[in-house]
Amino acid sequence: MRTYRYFLLLFWVGQPYPTFSTPLSKRTSGFPAKKRTLELSGNSKNELNRSKRSWMWNQFFLLEEYTGSDYQYVGKLHSDQDRGDGSLKYILSGDGAGDLFIINENTGDIQATKRLDREEKPVYILRAQAINRKTGRPVEPESEFIIKIHDINDNEPIFTKEVYTATVPEMSDVGTFVVQVTATDADDPTYGNSAKIVYSILQGQPYFSVESETGIIKTALLNMDRENREQYQVVIQAKDMGGQMGGLSGTTTVNITLTDVNDNPPRFPQSTYQFKTPESSPPGTPIGRIKASDADLGENAEIEYSITEGEGLDMFDVITDQETQEGIITVKKLLDFEKKKVYSLKVEASNPHVEPRFLYLGPFKDSATVKIMVEDVDEPPVFSKLAYILQIREDAQINTTIGSVTAQDPDAARNPVKYSVDRHTDMDRIFNIDSGNGSIFTSKLLDRETLLWHNITVIATEINNPKQSSRVPLYIKVLDVNDNPPEFAEFYETFVCEKAKADQLIQTLRAVDKDDPYSGHQFSFSLAPEAASGSNFTIQDNKDNTAGILTRKNGYSRHEMSTYLLPVVISDNDYPVQSSTGTVTVRVCACDHQGNMQSCHAEALVHPTGLSTGALVAILLCIVTLLG
Ligand SMILES: *[C@@H]1O[C@H](CO)[C@@H](O)[C@H](O)[C@H]1NC(C)=O
Ligand SMILES: *[C@@H]1O[C@H](CO)[C@@H](O)[C@H](O)[C@H]1NC(C)=O
Ligand SMILES: *[C@@H]1O[C@H](CO)[C@@H](O)[C@H](O)[C@H]1NC(C)=O
Ligand SMILES: *[C@@H]1O[C@H](CO)[C@@H](O)[C@H](O)[C@H]1NC(C)=O
Ligand SMILES: *[C@@H]1O[C@H](CO)[C@@H](O)[C@H](O)[C@H]1NC(C)=O
Ligand SMILES: *[C@@H]1O[C@H](CO)[C@@H](O)[C@H](O)[C@H]1NC(C)=O
Repeated sequence: MRTYRYFLLLFWVGQPYPTFSTPLSKRTSGFPAKKRTLELSGNSKNELNRSKRSWMWNQFFLLEEYTGSDYQYVGKLHSDQDRGDGSLKYILSGDGAGDLFIINENTGDIQATKRLDREEKPVYILRAQAINRKTGRPVEPESEFIIKIHDINDNEPIFTKEVYTATVPEMSDVGTFVVQVTATDADDPTYGNSAKIVYSILQGQPYFSVESETGIIKTALLNMDRENREQYQVVIQAKDMGGQMGGLSGTTTVNITLTDVNDNPPRFPQSTYQFKTPESSPPGTPIGRIKASDADLGENAEIEYSITEGEGLDMFDVITDQETQEGIITVKKLLDFEKKKVYSLKVEASNPHVEPRFLYLGPFKDSATVKIMVEDVDEPPVFSKLAYILQIREDAQINTTIGSVTAQDPDAARNPVKYSVDRHTDMDRIFNIDSGNGSIFTSKLLDRETLLWHNITVIATEINNPKQSSRVPLYIKVLDVNDNPPEFAEFYETFVCEKAKADQLIQTLRAVDKDDPYSGHQFSFSLAPEAASGSNFTIQDNKDNTAGILTRKNGYSRHEMSTYLLPVVISDNDYPVQSSTGTVTVRVCACDHQGNMQSCHAEALVHPTGLSTGALVAILLCIVTLLG
């Protein structure tokens, strides 16, 4: 029980008056009375001015939380009409009258019967009356007065949170804001210091400080390093009575975590790394992992690796494993033990996210040397080319050399190799290879017009280690030789009208040739010599690989000759010249005025049936139509 707080106080606020009892007025030093006069009820004041001050009170004060065994004395009502002979009777009405507050009707002494709590009800409004006992008439007008419950400091400051959590970046400047804590006090803030709170730090120095009036927590130490210590538990006290002795206090805990900033560069734990890889490793093969450590967190600990110098700058790569922040060294280009056996690289690790204000600490990067040993691997023979293209004339004799391939064992041992043709690619055994020197021969006759390209595969095998073998494609193109004569492009059968004039074109001829001369075909056409003399037709060579058959006289007769067979010689002008003779069949026919064929049969003119010419024409038309 904090009994020291429960002393009783009652004091007079208005003009001191000799007859008013102020039993505790001498003990009021801690409770300034000054402000209270302003809170007089206007009503009561008016009353006083108007009624010549016959009432000798206006406002009473009473301490809350009185715990004494007796009733608490409040004060005395007194009228200057009271001559002390018991003729006056004081009557009390209003808030709690007769119950909370009782009055001695003879003396006017008011007492409180219960303990009062300002935080529950700070003001009671009552009315007083003084009446003459004999006449029952009031000797004073009824007047209102106030009993104010004085605050005592019975509430301690309470923080809005039991535990605060806050973060502040490590390495912050001294005085950097961390968090503000707040405590409240239920006591009367307008009276005394019961609600005047002062903050202080009980735990957490010298790292943090608190502003006594605001509760703002700030950093107090330079260079606080998260990598050294991350968590701080700070205890803040809030004390009322302006922080003085005897004030009540409450505390709160503030959990403060330092957040990471990039104040640590990456560092390789060792200066040299050594890896080995077989020379056969294909590009992209990982060779080994290196890891620089970084004391920071998250993106501040992210590391980028790069190869900055060394003989293997373009032979190797380094990539970052995003999960582990390791650098993975990989093969970039094909290695060759026989060319270079050891590489030395300088690999750099750097932080991509750098905070410029820490650059004075030095560069945020580190480098290490990586040595890579290339290991020898027994390799198959290597051909001098990735593919070979050879050419051979189609008239080449058997055993003609087309060309040659070469392959070599790249290993230091330089094992001898032998050559062979992959028979699956040369089923007809058209080609042979000299197993010792790689010369390619024909073993069959060739024909370009049958097959232009022979695409085969040649194998090179190490003689004393047949498992080591390689294959190479060989494209053999057969070159054209003029070994085919030109021929008519189609079978030509045509007709000439009986009434044809000389020099009329009756047919155009075209020719084809299977050969494929470099400068294109140049055919020539002529009548076969045996048919040239006395021929009834001429051949006109158009010099564009076509020729025309022309009439040589006016008028042909079916009776004399129903069909002519014209032998035409076609020759190419290539080397060696090739020619052939084709026959064009020309029939003699009756035609209409437009030159359209009407009848080609000699016997049709002998019409023994005696049909009219009109009927014959109709039948002929039918036949022509059917033939068409
Ligand atoms: C009451 O009387 C006092 C003194 O005579 C005076 O100063 C004050 O202004 C008066 N108040 C009112 C409300 O009339
Ligand atoms: C505050 O810190 C203490 C000690 O580190 C811990 O036990 C507690 O759980 C923390 N409280 C909160 C709310 O983070
Ligand atoms: C091709 O050469 C082989 C061996 O050199 C020989 O046996 C064969 O008779 C030759 N063939 C011809 C057609 O010359
Ligand atoms: C390869 O050897 C054959 C005999 O087997 C020979 O005729 C030919 O000229 C040689 N070719 C070369 C390129 O040495
Ligand atoms: C052979 O190779 C040539 C040249 O690459 C190509 O044009 C031709 O189509 C190939 N022929 C076959 C049958 O693969
Ligand atoms: C040309 O035609 C006549 C008939 O008109 C014929 O007797 C002669 O044999 C023909 N000449 C040749 C070369 O066919």
